[in-house]
Amino acid sequence: MTLNLDECYNHVYGLVEEAGKLIAARNYGKKSMVEKSSDIDLLTETDQQVERLLMDGITSKYPDHKFIGEEETSAGKKAELTNAPTWIIDPVDGTMNFVHSFPHSCISIALLIEKITEIAIIHNPVLNQTFTARRGKGAFYNDKPIRVSGETRIERALATTEFGTSRDEEKTSVVLENIGKLVRVVHGIRSTGSAALNIAMVALGGADFNYEFGIHAWDIAAGDLIVREAGGVCLDPAGGPLDLMSRRFICASTQELADKVIALITQYYPQPTD
Ligand code: IPD
Ligand code: CA
Repeated sequence: MTLNLDECYNHVYGLVEEAGKLIAARNYGKKSMVEKSSDIDLLTETDQQVERLLMDGITSKYPDHKFIGEEETSAGKKAELTNAPTWIIDPVDGTMNFVHSFPHSCISIALLIEKITEIAIIHNPVLNQTFTARRGKGAFYNDKPIRVSGETRIERALATTEFGTSRDEEKTSVVLENIGKLVRVVHGIRSTGSAALNIAMVALGGADFNYEFGIHAWDIAAGDLIVREAGGVCLDPAGGPLDLMSRRFICASTQELADKVIALITQYYPQPTD
């Protein structure tokens, strides 16, 4: 039976709103931390509970659907993208922000069918910001249609990027090298502390490009569709097609701007990939 995508979107939108209430209610309080691999790659009980709520809510209606979730994957489950309907979920993107009560964290969720993204939602429940897209139906911010800026000039562009959640020496030096190159050329560089919200800013037209090495599929899957539906481009940072599992991402308001950024930045190939 073919999946009714309208029904599916409404069901998941409801779950995202419900899960978002957990994040919003706890944003300004003390967080219950869970041990994770490093001092700056944080995990809270809320991350786990939100992921569980979303997965259980989806499974109850769609028992055959598969998942790639940040917390399950960090706990050792291999991320596997097949042709089956698959939800790629970041329960709290911007966990460091959440831990510090810095109000830029969000749920990022996307549905892929045969590896094509059909539904995307990025929801910051603390500031009530919701970015959505359906393939072929445009992108929206709090239900209003959005478009990328259309900027082509790198010297007029506002960039978003992050330092990331690894302080691996080789990676950190590429990150700093790229920031050093760009800051001399662009209008400005911003970091929201959430890869998904950084990407959403490009869809909104508030920023003109975003790039990051070391992100994961769950940071970018929803943002990719939202930017493309808002008229922008999403690519591999060396210029080829985007591979959601490659841990490499660039998006821009125009191909022309993306090409200029790509020509400038130093490449980095994170290992292992997703
Ligand atoms: C991280 C944040 C951060 C970005 C990292 C992400 P998390 O996600 O989006 O801003 O630099 O690449 O992994 O750990 O907060 O879900
Ligand atoms: Ca994330």
